[in-house]
Parts: sequence; structure tokens; C-alpha cells
Amino acid sequence: MKLMSIPLLFNLLLLYTTRTSGVKIDASHAVNAQGILETNLEETVSLVCKYEEEADEELVWKRNDALISLKEENKKGLSKLCITPIGYDDNEVTFTCQLGKNSTVTASVTLNVTYPPPLSGSEDVSMEEGSVFALQCDIGANPPVTSVAWKMNGTVVDVLAGGFTISTGAFTSRLTADSTEKNLHETTYECSTSSPKHGIHSKVFHVTVTAETMKFPLLPMIAGLVVVGFTMLLAIISRWKKIRQCCK
Ligand SMILES: *[C@@H]1O[C@H](CO)[C@@H](O)[C@H](O)[C@H]1NC(C)=O
Ligand SMILES: *[C@@H]1O[C@H](CO)[C@@H](O)[C@H](O)[C@H]1NC(C)=O
Ligand SMILES: *[C@@H]1O[C@H](CO)[C@@H](O)[C@H](O)[C@H]1NC(C)=O
Repeated sequence: MKLMSIPLLFNLLLLYTTRTSGVKIDASHAVNAQGILETNLEETVSLVCKYEEEADEELVWKRNDALISLKEENKKGLSKLCITPIGYDDNEVTFTCQLGKNSTVTASVTLNVTYPPPLSGSEDVSMEEGSVFALQCDIGANPPVTSVAWKMNGTVVDVLAGGFTISTGAFTSRLTADSTEKNLHETTYECSTSSPKHGIHSKVFHVTVTAETMKFPLLPMIAGLVVVGFTMLLAIISRWKKIRQCCK
């Protein structure tokens, strides 16, 4: 019984605030009981704020904590806001409408922008024999994907046989191996994600393994440059001495 009383109290408080507060937001999309509006990337969301008690009362809109500048004719008693196109940076943003003269009279809506992981098409990747093997997929999505799978040459990657490591975080999944080998690794790879909301999204990589290139002999070259520089410096100093002597 104790556990139940907390949500009940919370509900009563919500009811209380919506009743006393005279402003109301009507939205182009459904808004749930928690004030969350779900929308997709690129869509248009329109919000209409109304203060029904007094038609010429000034209204104010905020995007999170920042005031939104409104045209003079879009302030009195009723104010419309249009967010288009919806972007990644609108996710979890709260739009608040309040009375200009009394900020406790307020209503707000928080956007939940859903988007699929940015995976599509194919990419040609070239890796050097003996270098670290690494492929990466961006899997960031809202809601997050539920699974990530890597395929190699059409079948699920055999981690042991290929010497692979798969590491998957919230935003990226990486397929790596310590050393690239032409006969082992040169083929087609695919990462694919799945989720109930977004279905399956995948990206293909065509990996070619090139022969190890000769490393440029950097150290001997630096030593050579230092010698040249030092000789030039000596030359300048001796000439400078001469010039000074001339001026005496
Ligand atoms: C602001 O509005 C609240 C809720 O309607 C009210 O209780 C409060 O007295 C108002 N404050 C002022 C300064 O008008
Ligand atoms: C946003 O919408 C998605 C899809 O309906 C849902 O899974 C997720 O929980 C929502 N996020 C929030 C913060 O409400
Ligand atoms: C990929 O698969 C094809 C046919 O299924 C096979 O002939 C080829 O050897 C495979 N390549 C690698 C690198 O495993």
C-alpha cells in the first residue's frame, strides 16, 4: 500500500498543476501524460499555446531555458510555434509556454525525436597487410537498436577463426583484428542492426588488403637536416662577425 501511495500522490499533483495553470498547449502530435511528444527526424511539429482566461495577456515561449523571440502579433492570448524540420538537436528539448507577467502559469512539452541508425550503402576500404584491421559502424538511434551483427563474406563473423574482436557501445560498433592478412581478411563485410521501431539497417564494406609499403626513412633524414641547418648557422655567424668588423 505504501508503494502505491507515491504514484497516486504524483498523479494528484499533476492534476493540480494542470488545473491551476491557465495556459494550455495544443500540439500537432500526440502528447503523453508525461508531457512527451514523439516525432521523427525531418518532420514538422507545431505547438499552439492558449491562455483562455484573458485574451490579450502576453505569452512567452522558451526552448529549454532560452527565450524564443516572437512577433508582436503572436503573443497575445494565443501563440503558435512551428519547429521544422525536426533535427537531432531537438531531441529531449523542452518547449515551455508561460504568462509573461507570471511565470508560474506555465505548460510544457518535451520532444522525443526518433531516428534510425545512419547505416546504408557500401564503402570500399583498403588496409595494409600487417596493419591493424578495423571497421566501424555508427549505430546511434532513438530508441536504441536492440542488436548488432557483423557478417563476413555472407556469414556471421567467426571471431576465433578471423582473430576478430567485436566491441559495441551505445553509438558505435567496431570489428577489429590485430593484424590484417590478405588471405584471411580480404572480402566483404556487413554490419547490421535491428530494432522493433526501425527494423533492419545495414552497411557493407568491401575490404581490399594492399601490400605493406616501405616506411619512409624518417630518422636518417632528420639527422641530415640537422647537419645542414647547423652548417648554415655557422656560416651566418661567421659572416655576421665579418660585417661587424667592417663597421668598426
Ligand atoms: C501567479 O499565478 C499563480 C497561479 O495562478 C497564482 O497563485 C499567483 O498568485 C500568481 N502570482 C502573481 C504575482 O500574480
Ligand atoms: C521515445 O520514443 C520511443 C519510441 O516510441 C520510446 O521507445 C522511448 O522510450 C521514448 N523516449 C522517451 C524519453 O520517452
Ligand atoms: C567468400 O565466399 C566465396 C563463396 O562463398 C568463396 O569462394 C571465397 O573464398 C570466400 N572468401 C573468403 C575471403 O572467405
